[in-house]
Order: sequence, then structure tokens, then C-alpha cells
Amino acid sequence: MDIEKIDYLARLWIMEAATKIKQSFKETLDIDTKSGRNDLVTNMDKETEAFFVKQIKEHFKEHRLFGEEGMSDEVTDLNGVVWILDPIDGTLNFVEQQRDFSISLAIYQDGIGYLAYIYDVERDELYFAEKGKGATVNGKSIPKMNKTMDLQDALLIANLSVTKKFPTVWEAVKVSRGLRLHGAASLEYMDVATGRAGAYLSANLAPWDIAAGKIIVEELGGIVTRIDGSEINMLEKGSSIVAAPKIHQTLIDNYLP
Ligand code: IPD
Ligand code: CA
Ligand code: CA
Repeated sequence: MDIEKIDYLARLWIMEAATKIKQSFKETLDIDTKSGRNDLVTNMDKETEAFFVKQIKEHFKEHRLFGEEGMSDEVTDLNGVVWILDPIDGTLNFVEQQRDFSISLAIYQDGIGYLAYIYDVERDELYFAEKGKGATVNGKSIPKMNKTMDLQDALLIANLSVTKKFPTVWEAVKVSRGLRLHGAASLEYMDVATGRAGAYLSANLAPWDIAAGKIIVEELGGIVTRIDGSEINMLEKGSSIVAAPKIHQTLIDNYLP
């Protein structure tokens, strides 16, 4: 695949999509619910995904898009080049707070993640990684993750679904420096990537929530697995633990089933 061309266009499209999302702050959103009253989708989620579908079809005919709003191909394998998109990660934040949401985009080829972009729209921060070449935020290198950081020296991020399913996570929270949560999985991943938190645990995330975050975190030496320590299949929903290496081991060994 032509990494340079993909990278150039992906950045252009993310910025164009973000401009439209910011303009929508002044307009009335169409808001629908999906699986429940707090699982929202807006016209901007759909318009953003539709914009990427149109651009990818026009510029990369053989590529597929695997997106949350299901506006493109039905993806049941990761053969060839697949763009994995969450058009707005943190839709509830987008609607309620107009902050703490992102556009999250990853480009995989034959199941391997090569390019990752997480754009924190309100903070104007673009996290980026290319496989084997490190990670940046707004072009500035992100230092490798601290390999020796212990649970007691780090903030933990966990949501209610995970503490309900795995109550022992509360014990880990008590040992840690405290609990934090944004409500946008991609940005929780970036908190761990940058060392602002030691780990983030979630009971049920979709491929588009984590596809880009996983590439960025792994590029910096962090560990991403299911909560039982197994590898993540990027076609399935499931639990996720992303952490600095030592904290990942501590959580798996002492605080998780
Ligand atoms: C959600 C957010 C949230 C996580 C949910 C996701 P959405 O994504 O990432 O933090 O807890 O599981 O579904 O629906 O806002 O794209
Ligand atoms: Ca999401
Ligand atoms: Ca979303």
C-alpha cells in the first residue's frame, strides 16, 4: 500500500471532518439512541463516516472501511487494506459537553496495524503512529512508556461496566493513585500512551474504539490484551486492558480473573 498517499489524505480528511464537527456546535443535532438511552448517534457521526466512505471509495477503490455506523462494506475478515473508523468516539461527551471526543482512524493491512490517528477535536491534538516508527502528538515525539512504573505510582482508568463485572478492580483502584474516566475509549488509550494513566480497563469495546489506540500504545511499548490476557481479535467486540508493561502484569496476576 502507498503509505505516503494514505497518510497525506487521512490527515486532510480528519481535519476536514473535524472542521464540520466543530461547525455543528452552532447547529441543532439530530440525536438517536441505539442500544439504550445513553448509547447515542448523531447526524454528525453518520455524516463523518459517510464522508470517509465517499473519499476512500474515490481514492482507494480496493480498500474497505470498517466503521461503527456500518455505512460501508460488511467486514468479516481483515484481508487487504481495511480502514477502521470511529467517526466520533465519545458521542455522549460530544452531545453533552462538546469536549473529550475524537475521530479515531486506523489502517490495517492483512490484519496488521500500520497507521493510526486519534484526533482530540476540542484540544486540537492529533496522536499518530506508524508501525515501527514511534508515535507523535501534533508532530512531537511521544516518549516510550515507563517499563518500571508500578500500580501504586499510577492513576487508573476504569468504567462502571468493568468494576461491575470484575469487582476486584476496586482493589486495584485502592492501591493506585486514584480513578479517572473521560468516557471516550480512544482518549483513555492516549492517557495510557502518554503516561498520564497507568492502565485503562473496559468490559466491552468494539474494534473501532481501540484499533488506532492499540497501534499507538504498542508503538510506545505498552501492552493491549483482553482482560484475561489473551490477544485481541480486531473483528470482535470484547474486554480490553491497556497498560504500561509492569502494571499490565500486576493487574492480570493479582486483580483479574
Ligand atoms: C463509546 C466510548 C466509551 C466506551 C463505550 C464506547 P462511542 O464509544 O468510547 O468511552 O465506554 O464502550 O462505545 O459510542 O461514543 O463511539
Ligand atoms: Ca467509540
Ligand atoms: Ca462512535
